[in-house]
Amino acid sequence: MPRISYVNGRYVRHHDAAVHIEDRGYQFADAVYEVIAIVDSRMLDEEFHLTRLERSLREIRMGMPFTREIFRLRVAELLRRNRLRKGSLYLQVSRGVAPRDHRLPPSARPSVVMTLRPMRPPSRAMLEAGIAVVTCPDIRWKRPDIKSVALLPNILARDAAVRGGAYEAWQVDGDGMVTEGSSTNAWIVTRDGALVTHPPDTAILNGVTRLVILELAAERDLTVEERPFSVSEALDAAEAFITSTTSFVLPVTVIDGNRIGDGKPGPVTCALVERYAKHAEMLSR
Ligand code: PDD
Repeated sequence: MPRISYVNGRYVRHHDAAVHIEDRGYQFADAVYEVIAIVDSRMLDEEFHLTRLERSLREIRMGMPFTREIFRLRVAELLRRNRLRKGSLYLQVSRGVAPRDHRLPPSARPSVVMTLRPMRPPSRAMLEAGIAVVTCPDIRWKRPDIKSVALLPNILARDAAVRGGAYEAWQVDGDGMVTEGSSTNAWIVTRDGALVTHPPDTAILNGVTRLVILELAAERDLTVEERPFSVSEALDAAEAFITSTTSFVLPVTVIDGNRIGDGKPGPVTCALVERYAKHAEMLSR
């Protein structure tokens, strides 16, 4: 069965799925996106994702290309055509095709593309060992809260991680504070058992997984501090972990070559891994 993707109202073979070379997403990164987990043929945390998409579009002076109901129908059709029940959905909305000009085009029609792919949750081995992160300067623009496709600094950060034998890079601002990972949010657990993560200001992407973890932490009466933490505080923490739609909750056991805590995933992190896995399976029950 051929893989099918969605391009501007059409369901086309993935191989043939394309937008024009003068699409502003291609020329200016004038586009925003979402990555949404698919569980049991439905979007996990759909409302959080669509609310964030709407916000990203508003911040770049665009509106939603269609209603949530139509969006849901199109995703359902794409899932049906790909016979996919579990995986991830990539959705990108650009300002559309127009002659290259820094001024916003008066009447471009947004380009909407969607692709699906299978997705595996992190392996047991990875969850048991935890992952390594390296730190690097946060060289991004000042609005990473907008989920824009301008991800060059993020992919260079991730490349630095891969070259350093690590899974993720934690970006560090000019004050020595960890903002977030290249495609994940960053968390520590203090020796007093408090969860600490950067506040959802303009310096980070307010991850949907982050929002769900905050809810799950509240249910368990865990202390949460939404504040920046420094690299040295992270090195001294009891536990650390990352969150994202594709990484779920992943323990961090090494930062810049230094073991965190006793070098094994800690109890708070492990409890959140389990609780989030239940949340992600919720749709299939
Ligand atoms: N990335 N921070 C950044 C910079 C991200 O790109 C992402 C997600 C997150 C976590 O957000 P969420 O929990 O909503 O997935 C944080 C996606 C998965 C990606 O670019 O593939």
